Amino acid sequence: MKLWLDKIEQAQSLEELETLRVEILGKKGILTLEFAKMKTIPNEEKKEFAQKLNKQKAQINDAIENKKTTLLAKALEEQLKAEKIDVTQFVASDETAALHPVLDTMDRITTYFQNMNFSIEEGPLVEDDFHNFEALNLPKYHPARDMQDTFYCKDGAVLRTHTSPVQIRTMQNNKPPIRMIAPGSVFRKDYDITHTPMFNQIEGLVVDDIDKVSFANLKHVMVEFLQHMFGDVEVRFRPSFFPFTEPSAEVDISCLFCEGKGCKVCSQTGWLEVLGCGIVDENVFKAVGYKNVSGYAFGLGIERFAMLIHKIGDLRSLFESDIRLLGQFR
Ligand code: DAH
Repeated sequence: MKLWLDKIEQAQSLEELETLRVEILGKKGILTLEFAKMKTIPNEEKKEFAQKLNKQKAQINDAIENKKTTLLAKALEEQLKAEKIDVTQFVASDETAALHPVLDTMDRITTYFQNMNFSIEEGPLVEDDFHNFEALNLPKYHPARDMQDTFYCKDGAVLRTHTSPVQIRTMQNNKPPIRMIAPGSVFRKDYDITHTPMFNQIEGLVVDDIDKVSFANLKHVMVEFLQHMFGDVEVRFRPSFFPFTEPSAEVDISCLFCEGKGCKVCSQTGWLEVLGCGIVDENVFKAVGYKNVSGYAFGLGIERFAMLIHKIGDLRSLFESDIRLLGQFR
């Protein structure tokens, strides 16, 4: 009996345990054969004999059940160990990923200007009034502040409404000459088919000696850039107003959809507005303590470029993470 219990205790696997169970309790098992001896045992000894065997059977059953529980737990533990998922492991997939069209457009624009020797600058998303407005020649109560649909935070801070404040920070931290662009997110309280509360801009600024920077330089750089991005388009400069530039222009390209003939997208004008620019206003240089310099600046919306390049109709679809849209950019 002790021998059987020991064997059960030493079983290494569920299979081994089952074999033992059959050996002891199966049809021709050792204990089953003992029970068969009942027939030959004198009646007066039967009761005692049966009790002994039943007790042994119960003991064996208990031992087998206990061992089974232990072995099952061990097997589960081993399985868990063996099947551990390594989430960092590289798995080749036949699904190719792609850059989001906004990121891709941002990359293309920044790479273009990097190649033209512009540095890439960054600034905080939560700005103070000075950098977002005041230093850009937008004094308090100036009506042009209304154009910006600003999100105000505590203590007079704002979510930056444009990337232009990075011009100010870069000039404060560097001496001229400056040749920079600043890509990044901006925020405005606005939401419809051409506006989202968060979007992305690229700001550009060039500052150098007075005789080194002119509107002609600005015009040349903008035309080259736009033809790089949009191909063989016509470019026109329209006089406009920005507080931080004087003179200022808005720049249009000939409509990509109708080639200038007039369609719904260009509101029958044959032109699409793509950026704002101008010669840096003296008041901006005053705000950062720059003297005897000249500069030009420009600013553009990256989503607008992405929509035109990929012919996307609704700006909001760029931010909805719909895999059916994103899948088209592989
Ligand atoms: N900050 C302007 C905006 O958000 C864009 C802009 C226009 C930037 C003209 C400039 C500029 O630097 O010269 O609408």
